[in-house]
Amino acid sequence: MKRLPFPFPVVRWQQDQVELIDQTLLPDRLEFRHCRAIDDLCRAIRELAVRGAPAIGVAAAYGLVLSWRRAMDEGLDTYGRADRLRRDRDALAATRPTAVNLVWALDRVLARTEALRGGQADPEKVLAALKAEADAILDEDIAMGRAMGEAGQALLPDKGTVLTHCNAGGLATGGFGTAVGVVYAARLAGKDISVYADETRPLLQGARLTAWELVNQGVPVTVLCEGAAASALRAGLIDAVITGADRVAVNGDAANKIGTYPLAVLAARHGVPFYIAAPASTFDAGAPDGNAIPIEMRAEDEVFRWRDRKVVPAGARAWNPAFDVTPAELVTAYITERGVLKPPFPPEILGG
Ligand code: MRU
Repeated sequence: MKRLPFPFPVVRWQQDQVELIDQTLLPDRLEFRHCRAIDDLCRAIRELAVRGAPAIGVAAAYGLVLSWRRAMDEGLDTYGRADRLRRDRDALAATRPTAVNLVWALDRVLARTEALRGGQADPEKVLAALKAEADAILDEDIAMGRAMGEAGQALLPDKGTVLTHCNAGGLATGGFGTAVGVVYAARLAGKDISVYADETRPLLQGARLTAWELVNQGVPVTVLCEGAAASALRAGLIDAVITGADRVAVNGDAANKIGTYPLAVLAARHGVPFYIAAPASTFDAGAPDGNAIPIEMRAEDEVFRWRDRKVVPAGARAWNPAFDVTPAELVTAYITERGVLKPPFPPEILGG
């Protein structure tokens, strides 16, 4: 399989389409999925072809460029275009409820049309402005990844191991990563850091995606079932646990992939620091604590199946929350583009 450059082009605007690495095919095939209509993009987000809070935000931002482009192609008038944009914004916002970056990015792009007389300016000008805003969100995300990496790598020893959960690497962002970005930055700083990656049931983002991108970048990685994390911590194999987040509340409670909360409990039990790495766009000033974070419930079938095979007997039910909330008291610190923080967070972080 061909090696990717670094940072990876996870989402891009190409030939009037949103193109994204189809993460459902990894690690077997590296292919771009082409989204020519909003429905294609909504499906790609729901199916997790593009996933990870910052990457969803970037994809949704380009989604509004796509919405405007298609409205122009269809010859809609000013009001038709504005109406279409708002409807597509709502459709994209409804795809995944937990990652706050999604709504943050959509509203940031939408604000650009409002600044252009509610989108009544020359449609080509509006298109260019929407595209410029989406490009800025992408560029800023990569820059934030580098800044978070720089802040976080200072917490790591010269030689050591990081345990992570799900995929909070380049694939989950504009291309650099949050939790895994800290590892990349540590290695760029000359540190000998290797990674233990939880496989992350039920969709194996750790085994399929984190392991794939680390192998791709030449970073030593060992995959473990999340049930093995307690033993790895007890055996002293782990120096720090670092995960990403989909939404951080004002008090520091943080939603991330299901299985993160038990990892934080285990880290506390074994005296290993547990860090959340997340940019300002993941902090939600509107959520006072974790109880205000909506948790996405996904299809039972994801739990029933291992690849294409059904492994759970007919008649059994499944409970499949996609995320859990780690209470702030279990988080050692938050690695952000504005440094390593603890609550109360400054307004620059809570303002997005
Ligand atoms: O369901 P997913 O794969 O989108 O879940 C992703 C995660 O939980 C990530 O850890 C989170 O979005 C942070 S990504 C930098």
